[in-house]
Amino acid sequence: MFNQIYQYNFPTTIRFGAGVSKELGDYLLKNKLSKPLIVTDPTVAQLDFFKEIVTDLKKKNISTEIFKDIHKNPVKSDVYKGTDVYDATSRDAVIGMGGGAALDVARAIVLRVNHREDLFKYDDLIGGEVFVTNDVPHFITVPTTAGTGSEVGRSAVISDDETHQKKILFSPKLLARIVYADPLLTMELPSFITAATGMDALTHNMEAYLAKMSHPLCEGIALEGISIINEFLDKAVNKPDLESRSKMLIASLMGAVAFQKGLGVVHSLAHPLSSLLDTHHGLANAVNIPYGMQFNIEGFEYKFKRIARALELKQETGEAVVTYLFGLNSKINIPHRLADIGVKREHIETLADLAIADFAHPNNPKAVTREDFKQLYLRAL
Ligand SMILES: NC(=O)c1ccc[n+]([C@@H]2O[C@H](COP(=O)([O-])OP(=O)(O)OC[C@H]3O[C@@H](n4cnc5c(N)ncnc54)[C@H](O)[C@@H]3O)[C@@H](O)[C@H]2O)c1
Ligand SMILES: [Fe+2]
Repeated sequence: MFNQIYQYNFPTTIRFGAGVSKELGDYLLKNKLSKPLIVTDPTVAQLDFFKEIVTDLKKKNISTEIFKDIHKNPVKSDVYKGTDVYDATSRDAVIGMGGGAALDVARAIVLRVNHREDLFKYDDLIGGEVFVTNDVPHFITVPTTAGTGSEVGRSAVISDDETHQKKILFSPKLLARIVYADPLLTMELPSFITAATGMDALTHNMEAYLAKMSHPLCEGIALEGISIINEFLDKAVNKPDLESRSKMLIASLMGAVAFQKGLGVVHSLAHPLSSLLDTHHGLANAVNIPYGMQFNIEGFEYKFKRIARALELKQETGEAVVTYLFGLNSKINIPHRLADIGVKREHIETLADLAIADFAHPNNPKAVTREDFKQLYLRAL
């Protein structure tokens, strides 16, 4: 690696800890912001902590406007509607408060406010980042799930309304100015969402560690993220407490810091399930990860040895890592088979077409062909 030049970027200011979301109002006032658009989803908007935060902002004379009209796998029209609300109510900042879906819509609104070409002109896969040239509104993120790590990301995953293909909008300008990561907001997450989002975080850390690019900083973070998830995911799902919730929130954030290095085959297997069948992103990764990791072992045994060590496995091999992943899925009630989450044999060809076109696998350590995707889906079916 030492005959090349690399660029390493690290994320925004992160305020982390139980109760830290209470600082939001003072932060806005300090920055002379008084009209934020809060982007969330219909479920989070009903939760007590959300209402308390909004009430607290109102008490501080901050005018809040809530946009919650988003899809589970967000689409372009969600972003357009949210931007219309931003304009119509003359907002001066955007707060993304919710799971990855809400944070992605918030980030895409941040982009769209001063960039009014078709949203997918900014698609990173076709070099759209170069068109992100104007200023963007002040952007704050408050995660309420522990999985995507989107709060520290610079990209938003938004699907086409018609084709459902996932597009990735990317620019360093889309980094939040500050993140309020408050584990208290995740205390009431249902066990199924804790499990699925936790496996998304594990997939980020594992795929980032394995991804092609040389990035020792991210690799160190990813291995520590894997180790934390090994210790706390089962507990966060089956016997949650503040410690396990806090550890999962930091590990999810670490996964997203690490995956600026790249993702891989598992995310490319997962994205088409969300596009075609509306499967939750974390669940799609969770079911696919043992199969994707099995595919990656050959030629990368030395890396799997490090992963096995982070997981404190007796046998430091790729096969032991795969066995561990099936075992973890069992403990947290994630099915082992795609058939259990609604995939049918007749979906396989379309899934393989979508997977080969996906943006994640070019960074996989091993090249993946369409036939490989088809065989992986068949194995997991
Ligand atoms: N930008 C990125 O880097 C990135 C990375 C991975 C995934 N994603 C995207 O993130 C999305 C998935 O995000 P997610 O896994 O957080 O799921 P999500 O945002 O869909 O949330 C899952 C469910 O949990 C509910 N929920 C959220 N917070 C809650 C809380 N505190 N208590 C109770 N319920 C709560 C939501 O209402 C929703 O029903 C997908 O659209 C995916 O494409 C983005
Ligand atoms: Fe993910």
